Amino acid sequence: MPELRSWFAQQLGAERDDVLITPGGQGALSSVLRALAPAGSPVLVAVPCYPGAIALLRSAGLVPVPVPTDADGVRPELLERAFATTGARALYVQPTYANPDGQVLAPERRRPLLECAAAAGAFVVEDDYARWLGHGASAPPSLLRDDTEGRVITVNSLTKVAASSLRIGCVVARGPVLQRIAGLRMVDDLFVARPLQETAVEFVTGSGWSAHLRTLSTALRERTAALRTALARHLPQCSYLPPKGGFSLWLQLPRGSDGDEVTARALAEGVTVGSGRHHATAEDDTAHLRLVVSAIEAHHVDEAVQRLARAVG
Ligand SMILES: Cc1ncc(COP(=O)(O)O)c(C=O)c1O
Repeated sequence: MPELRSWFAQQLGAERDDVLITPGGQGALSSVLRALAPAGSPVLVAVPCYPGAIALLRSAGLVPVPVPTDADGVRPELLERAFATTGARALYVQPTYANPDGQVLAPERRRPLLECAAAAGAFVVEDDYARWLGHGASAPPSLLRDDTEGRVITVNSLTKVAASSLRIGCVVARGPVLQRIAGLRMVDDLFVARPLQETAVEFVTGSGWSAHLRTLSTALRERTAALRTALARHLPQCSYLPPKGGFSLWLQLPRGSDGDEVTARALAEGVTVGSGRHHATAEDDTAHLRLVVSAIEAHHVDEAVQRLARAVG
C-alpha cells in the first residue's frame, strides 16, 4: 500500500519508491541476503549476532564470517581486515539496539564502516528491527541517511514494536538491487496480505501510536533497570554492557561456566534464558546468556534473577 511505503520512507529517511513492504523482518532479510551473494559466498556478520540471521545465511548456503564488536559496535579495523581476507561483498549489522547486547554503533564509527564497505565494493545490510525500542533517548538515524552511494540496504519491521503477529516490515534499497530483492520476494510469497497492511497503516498513523511508543519505552527502561539492580544484587560475578535500548541483555558468565548447562538448570528453576551459543557463528560461545525482559514485568525480575543465580551456582 502506498500509504505504508510512505510511512516507512518518512521514518527511515528514504524515498517511497525505494521501499518494499515485506512480511516482517525475517522474510525481508532472507530475500536481501540471497539477492546480494550467491551460495558459497562469505558474508560478514557483526557478533554477537541475531541467530535468525545466522540460520538464514546457512540455509542459503552462504558462509557467515564473524567480526567482533565492542561497546561502540563493530570494530572498523577488524572489519577492514575481514573484507580483505575473505573478499566478502556483504556485511550484516544491527547499528541500533543490537540483539542480543542492546548496543548502538557509535557516531564516529558510522563513516569508517561505510568506507570499509565502499573499499570492498560491498553492500551493508542494516537490520533496523528495534528502531522504536529505545529506553527514552531517541534512536540514532538509520545508516541509510549517511549513505550517498546506495550501499546500505535497510530492513525494518513492526513486529517488535507492535505485535509479533503483525508481520509487516520493509526493505529500503536503491538502484537495481531493489528489483532483484523484489523479484525474490515475488518468488517466495508474491505479496503481503492487504488486510494486514491496512491494519498496520491504521496502527502507525492512529492517534494512539505516540502514546504506545512512550508506554513501550517506559516499560523497557523500567524492566531493564530492574534487571540491572537484580544482577548487581544476585549475580555480581557476571558482567555485561548496559543495554542502550531493546529488550535483551548479554550476560557474561563466570569463567568456566557452560551457557547450555546454566540454561537447562535455569529452566528447572522456572526461568527461561537463552544460551549464548545461538548468537555465535562457530557455536563456541558458551560463556554468555541472553536475558530478555519483553515477557516479564518489572516486579518479577528480582525473583527471576535470584533463581537464575542458583542455576549459575
Ligand atoms: C535482530 C532481529 N532481526 C530480525 C528479526 C525478525 O523479526 P520479524 O519478527 O520482523 O521477522 C528479529 C526477531 O527476533 C531480530 O531479533
